[in-house]
Amino acid sequence: MSGRLADKVAIVVGAGQTPGDTIGNGRATAVLFAREGATVACVDRVAAAAEQTVAQIVSEGGTAFPVVADVTQEDACREVVAAVLERGSRVDVLHNNVGIGAGDQTPSRIDPEAWDRIFDVNLKSAILPCKAVLPIMRERCAGSIINISSVGAVCAMPTVAYKASKAALNAYTQSLAIGNAKYGIRANVIMPGLMNTPMAIDGIAAATGVDKQTLIEQRDAMVPLRGKMGTAWDVAHAALFLASDESGFITGVALPVDGGQSARIG
Ligand SMILES: NC(=O)c1ccc[n+]([C@@H]2O[C@H](COP(=O)([O-])OP(=O)(O)OC[C@H]3O[C@@H](n4cnc5c(N)ncnc54)[C@H](O)[C@@H]3O)[C@@H](O)[C@H]2O)c1
Repeated sequence: MSGRLADKVAIVVGAGQTPGDTIGNGRATAVLFAREGATVACVDRVAAAAEQTVAQIVSEGGTAFPVVADVTQEDACREVVAAVLERGSRVDVLHNNVGIGAGDQTPSRIDPEAWDRIFDVNLKSAILPCKAVLPIMRERCAGSIINISSVGAVCAMPTVAYKASKAALNAYTQSLAIGNAKYGIRANVIMPGLMNTPMAIDGIAAATGVDKQTLIEQRDAMVPLRGKMGTAWDVAHAALFLASDESGFITGVALPVDGGQSARIG
């Protein structure tokens, strides 16, 4: 542990993960934040998923506790912040990792209910935790908020709802950054590219029936850097930088973590 987040309190929303062979973005970020000295509130809708992340952190000597909440509900978000404040008076970092794409379709086939569900989860899961945390951060004139979007926000995708919702999350984060700059609160968004995570591999393989190894090879082939997907640790390390004071003059940025995929544009 090198202490890049020493004495900080971080809330990681979506800190559990889809079951699978590798580690997910939210869990890796929670674990890395704790390794760097943060006390981490591991928030997830699924109690067992949050508890597994906490167990991993505690087994490594870190400090974390689970909070079970559906963060698309405003009251639940207020309760998350209240649960964190019961243990101390500050929230230094809010990391919003929740995102879904199941049921997405092309423009001619998109189902309005799927569109609503994807938008609801992908935006409210960031907007409502931010709304609940901002008064606490404003009081202390400090804080770092990190939203997890996707490189799909800026790259071509055949399906529409996930892309449009992540583009909206990028736009939201810019407003969040500018509206809160005078309070010393920073807000940035990470755009992961093709990552080898359970959500992407085990989840998509189960949904499409494509064999996992075939899916891995197809995704690897699309990545410019070394022809290999990234891992959740790549997202976690970018988040660590944005959470830490090292990025103290960076706000309103959309950072691709994508092995060069978005650099192909133009
Ligand atoms: N894996 C990739 O290739 C890739 C690429 C681009 C972007 N992303 C983004 O990364 C994020 C997901 O990464 P992950 O690997 O941690 O996913 P994951 O599915 O493994 O973990 C997400 C966690 O969020 C929880 N969750 C879902 N809805 C919730 C809700 N309403 N309230 C509280 N918790 C909820 C789930 O229970 C799960 O534990 C998403 O925002 C996704 O869009 C992933």
